[in-house]
Order: sequence, then C-alpha cells, then structure tokens
Amino acid sequence: MKILDCSLFLVALSYSYSVSGTVFGPSEQKPLTPIDGEKGQRPRPNIIFILTDDQDLHMNSLDYMPFVQKHLLDHGTLFRRHFCTTALCCPSRVTLWTGKAAHNTNVTNVVPPYGGYPKFVSQGLNDKYLPVWLQESGYNTYYTGKLFNAHSVDNYDSPHAAGWTASDFLLDPFTYWYMNSTYQRNKDPPVSFEGRHSVDVIAEKALGLLDEAHEASKPFFLGVAPVSPHANLWTPKFKHGGHSDLEDIEFSPPVPAERHSKLFEGIKVPRTANFNPDKRSGASWIRKLPKQSQETVDYNDNFYVQRLRTLQSVDEIVDSIVRRLEDLKILDNTYIIYTTDNGYHIGQHRMQPAKQCSFEEDINIPLIIRGPGVPKKSTSDIITTHTDLAPTLLEIVGAPLRNDFDGLAIPLTEESLAQASETRHEHVTVEHWGFASNEGQVLDSYPRLHANNTYKALRVISKTYNLHYQVWCNNERELHDLTTDPGQMVNLLHPDERAPERIAGAPLEKVVARLDSLLFVLKSCKAQMCVQPWRSLHPEGSVESLRDALSPRFDSFYEDRSTKIEFDRCEMGFILDAEGPQFGQDDFLSAFDPKWHEWT
Ligand SMILES: *[C@@H]1O[C@H](CO)[C@@H](O)[C@H](O)[C@H]1NC(C)=O
Ligand SMILES: *[C@@H]1O[C@H](CO)[C@@H](O)[C@H](O)[C@H]1NC(C)=O
Ligand SMILES: *[C@@H]1O[C@H](CO)[C@@H](O)[C@H](O)[C@H]1NC(C)=O
Repeated sequence: MKILDCSLFLVALSYSYSVSGTVFGPSEQKPLTPIDGEKGQRPRPNIIFILTDDQDLHMNSLDYMPFVQKHLLDHGTLFRRHFCTTALCCPSRVTLWTGKAAHNTNVTNVVPPYGGYPKFVSQGLNDKYLPVWLQESGYNTYYTGKLFNAHSVDNYDSPHAAGWTASDFLLDPFTYWYMNSTYQRNKDPPVSFEGRHSVDVIAEKALGLLDEAHEASKPFFLGVAPVSPHANLWTPKFKHGGHSDLEDIEFSPPVPAERHSKLFEGIKVPRTANFNPDKRSGASWIRKLPKQSQETVDYNDNFYVQRLRTLQSVDEIVDSIVRRLEDLKILDNTYIIYTTDNGYHIGQHRMQPAKQCSFEEDINIPLIIRGPGVPKKSTSDIITTHTDLAPTLLEIVGAPLRNDFDGLAIPLTEESLAQASETRHEHVTVEHWGFASNEGQVLDSYPRLHANNTYKALRVISKTYNLHYQVWCNNERELHDLTTDPGQMVNLLHPDERAPERIAGAPLEKVVARLDSLLFVLKSCKAQMCVQPWRSLHPEGSVESLRDALSPRFDSFYEDRSTKIEFDRCEMGFILDAEGPQFGQDDFLSAFDPKWHEWT
C-alpha cells in the first residue's frame, strides 16, 4: 500500500471512539488503578501536585530543600531527564495542563495576543484541560496559586477558570509581588494580602483546601502553585494583560519570608564551565553578550541566594502537606508530584537571570513523584516532558486517555520504568516565540528584552549520544555534543569552532541531516506523531531512534532531502507563514522517494 501523506497513517494510529461526549483513546489502554467500590480493591488515589515557578535543577536548588529530600526524594522517584517543552511560564503551564505542545495550543507567550489566560480561553482550552477531565472521571479538584499569566483582577470572572471544585487563584498584576499578593477564591472578589508573604498565604490556603477535600469523601486532586523562586516583579502600567504591559516591568530579586532572610550567606551560583565564560558561546543574541563585570556577578549571586531562601517556604509547604496527609491517614494512597514550569539560568553563557532558552539550565527541570507503587529513593533516566503529565495523571486516576495528547504517560512502577528505559523514545522538542527577557540588572550592555528569540530545538539522548540541535528564526543553527561538552560551550555549527568530523559515531553532516529531519517533523507534530516521530519519516517502521536512522542505507534518503528547517522571518508568535515549509505539505513530500512510504 502506498501512503501519499502521513495523515492516513495518523488516522490509523489515533483510532478513537466517543461515549457521552468524551473522546476516549484506544480501547486497549487499561486503567492503572481499580475503581473504588469494587470488592477488595483500594480506593482511587488522591493527587497533590506542587508546581513551583522557574525552579532550576542545574543550579542545585533541590539540595537546599531538606523536606523535599526527606518526604519526596527518599520516598519517591526523581526523573533526572524531565524537560519542559517551552521554557516560559504560561505556555509551559498550558502544555502541562492540556498535554499538548505549544504549537498545538497556540498559547505561546505570557500575555495577549499570543498568550496568557485570555488566549487560553479564546483557544477553547478552558473546557479541554486536566481539571475538567478529572471531574468527568469522578474526582473533586482543588487549586491554589498561579494558574496562568494575565489571569488578572480584571478578567478572572470572564469566564472563571473551569473545572475546579474549589479554587483560590493568585492574580495578576500581583502574582509576582511577594509582599503584596492578591488571591481570588471560588466566585468571590479578589482579596489583597498586602504585608504578608505570598507563599505563607498559599501554605494556609493549601492546607484549608486539603481539609475541605478530605471532608468531601471523594478522591481528589489538589494543585498548589506558589510563586517561588520567580523574580519579584511589579508592572505599574498593567492594564488588561496586554502586550504593551511588558515594556514597563520592575524586576528585582525574589523576596524571602523574614525568617529565611539570613540563610545561605555567601553561597554562590555554581561555577560550572559555562558560568560567565571567557569565550563566547551559543548563537544569535547570546553570542553577542559581553562578559559580566564583578558587580553584575555579585548582584546575580545575591539573586541566586534569594531564590534559595524563597524556596524554603515551599519546602515547609511540602512538610506541612505530608504531615497533614499522615494525620488524615491518606498519605499511603496519595501521589505527590513535585515539579516546576520551566528552569532558570543565572550567568551561564554570560546571560542575566532569566529563562526562555533551550540550554539545559532552562529546560531540564525537577520532577519528583511519590505514591503507591512508585520506587522509593530512586532515580530514573527515561526521557519525559511536560506533555506527558496530563496523560500520566489520567492514567493514575484510571481515566481513559485522550487521542490528541502529544505526550506519553510516565511509567510509575519499578517494572514499567525498567521496561521504559529500554523502549521509551529518546527525544525532546523545545520551541519558543518572541523575546527573551532579562530579569536581573539593566545596565547599558544588558537590555531588558532581547528580540528574535524565536526558535525550534531538539534534544536527543541515548546511552551513547547526547545532542542538542537548534534552529533560530534568523536561520542560525546550533549543535552541542553534551557527551564531551556538558556546558554546551561549543556550537559545532558555528564557523569559528573547529568541529570534529564525527559525532554520535557518524560523520557530523550525516547526524545533522537526521536531526534536521527529525526536528522538521516535531515542530508541527500532532498526537502520536510527537511520540513516534521517526515513523513519519520511515512509515515502514524500521527506525525508532537516531541510531537506527544513521544506518548507511538511509544516507541517500537524507541527502536527497531538499527541504530543511528554514524560517522566512522572526515573529513574536506562531505565525505559520513565517515558519517556512511544513511537514506534510505536498511540496515537502514530493522531495521524498515514494519507496520510503511503502508499508512493509
Ligand atoms: C498593594 O496592592 C494594593 C492593591 O491590591 C494597592 O492598593 C496597594 O497600594 C499596594 N501596596 C503598595 C505598598 O504599593
Ligand atoms: C529581528 O528579525 C527581524 C526580521 O526577521 C529583523 O528585521 C530584525 O533586524 C531582527 N532584530 C534584531 C534585533 O536582530
Ligand atoms: C496563533 O495565534 C495568533 C494570535 O491570535 C494568530 O495570529 C496565529 O495565526 C495563530 N497561529 C496559528 C498557526 O493558528
């Protein structure tokens, strides 16, 4: 059978049926957990989801959280290769709660027109996200803290966020103002907590919601999303969460609670090989950054310590939640998931404190899960991303998966984790649109915003290779071999670098051709195609990994490919006609020899 385009193949993969309005995934997907009421089976588990803001893995923030270590790391599994797919709060959170990559939500920024709560609503996602599905499956759902950016005192009720049994949201423009936050409970009007530490306010609200959830005698989900360790921020000109609001922002280091304000004196950002290096690195605006002065380094070290201090309040929340679960005798039947929206950099590649890049510091982030059957005091190196969390949660509660998830549920037992380490995919897609901000000092040489931070990137990690490939909207390219260069200091595709002839066991240009084709599929993938992208290039099913694709018998296939990832221009959002050829377009497919599209 000849396949003329990949859509037929996708239809076959995404077979689905519909019961009472809900779209269910393939019927062979068995719920992980038995439904309560059936004889001899344990009740459906509860879930507590703790979501911090901008927490790093690479600057060792977890080392400074003793309760996270005691209650979560010692009783759960740390996923060391967990990644966000867009290193920016709002797009990342929308991906997390919908199970879809940003190019499939088109929520790509923090404020309208390209992002924020209004864009989440106008994209029709307010009834297509996790809390709604959990409720449909018989769960009560609770949430306190930041849901999305531009979810504000002006628009919180037009409409209210759907899917919550009870909620207490942190609202803009006060979201990042540690000592003057505003929260909004259920359908009540917003309330200012001026003078109280925002994370201490959340701690009380979280415990209150936990008691409320327990009293309701139904299985529950509770989301707790404190602002730590995000920068302190005030937007004096904030109107309705519009884009112009971003031009006038006052950033300052995060503000800890008084009782933590003297901790960690003298601690500094880890001086890794990529910390304020003598040599330029990266591409585009990053490669133009000047080396930081001692004054800036000192400012940034203080910024770092302030982050660790604000995380102490989160650490205390973890302790108080675990102790309350123990008191209520439900700890053993509760999953606790701890993660963040995106990572953070301070000084690496000479960059000011911020995120929005695809370097490891920004994308490889903490994910810890403890709960029934999850290995204790354990680490896993399987590749997981934020697109996997919605499917994971639905699998935990025993609800059917949806057929349009871009991710794959994360295995949570020793056996399934061991199996996944042999069979799970090896790639991560990263995407970003718009500017990159600078949340540290604004000196002449470090502007507040860097334009044209629009790019597509890819991580491919196996036991034998570890690569990062990126294409910027000005068509600059980046390739890093993290096996030999974990700090990503040498862009092997930059004319100033002397690149080795071979990487990943093959000639460099052959590897690049494969990576480019893979990213070409991933940058516009949908559903199963995002999980098994090689199938779109090799529908005959013989290729599951970069290693397979590097087989010399595919050399001519990849060499013949005339279409490469190519932007037409830089845009602030996902404007399709700026993003060059798209996979699945006729002109692209005609570049293939039809023999590659045969089923075998
Ligand atoms: C704190 O926020 C409130 C509005 O919620 C505002 O009226 C007040 O002036 C703010 N406090 C300070 C110190 O600016
Ligand atoms: C950003 O990209 C646009 C168009 O792609 C270009 O005209 C502009 O000069 C770029 N700006 C910077 C600061 O590089
Ligand atoms: C994404 O949203 C923006 C802003 O509304 C819109 O201009 C753009 O066309 C959308 N992109 C796609 C691919 O639908």
